[in-house]
Amino acid sequence: MSHIIYPGSFDPITNGHVDVIQRLKKNFDKVTVLVASTPQKKSLFSIDERKKLIEDIFDGKNGIEVDVWDGLLIDYLEKRKCFLVGKGLRSVRDFEYEMDMAYTNQALNKKVDTFFVLTQPNLGFISSTLVKEVASFGGDISKFVPASVAKSIQKKFK
Ligand code: PNS
Repeated sequence: MSHIIYPGSFDPITNGHVDVIQRLKKNFDKVTVLVASTPQKKSLFSIDERKKLIEDIFDGKNGIEVDVWDGLLIDYLEKRKCFLVGKGLRSVRDFEYEMDMAYTNQALNKKVDTFFVLTQPNLGFISSTLVKEVASFGGDISKFVPASVAKSIQKKFK
């Protein structure tokens, strides 16, 4: 069974992430969406809230699971015995950052390989950071995130 791990901070998950998950699922039997900690980033949602938001979107979808990890990604990959990492690329700006992460993970464990999926052009401008900024000023984020996520963000800013 083919299995890929899609790690990210997902604070919160956006329509761009949803698209990448669906496209990874078309190509792999199992996709683990891994909410990983990024200590240098201040987050709006706790790691468990982010996990729940993703689970609610993919509830009942076979072959998509959500997990959390507070540690190095390579240690999670070793624990799961799965060394394929999936990442979405929105533009060349992402590419430079993602390339460094992919090489770092591979330098830490040479079994690790990273597969990149290009985000659909109409979703490529969406970022969790901008969604939060728009929402913090009461702007309409309904085009950028699933409805359940929009509701949860709006609650945070009330
Ligand atoms: O959504 P992001 O910010 O692109 O996700 C980055 C993430 C969570 C994938 C990355 O920071 C990560 O892998 N964190 C776990 C800790 C780790 O292994 N850091 C070294 C990565 S080379």
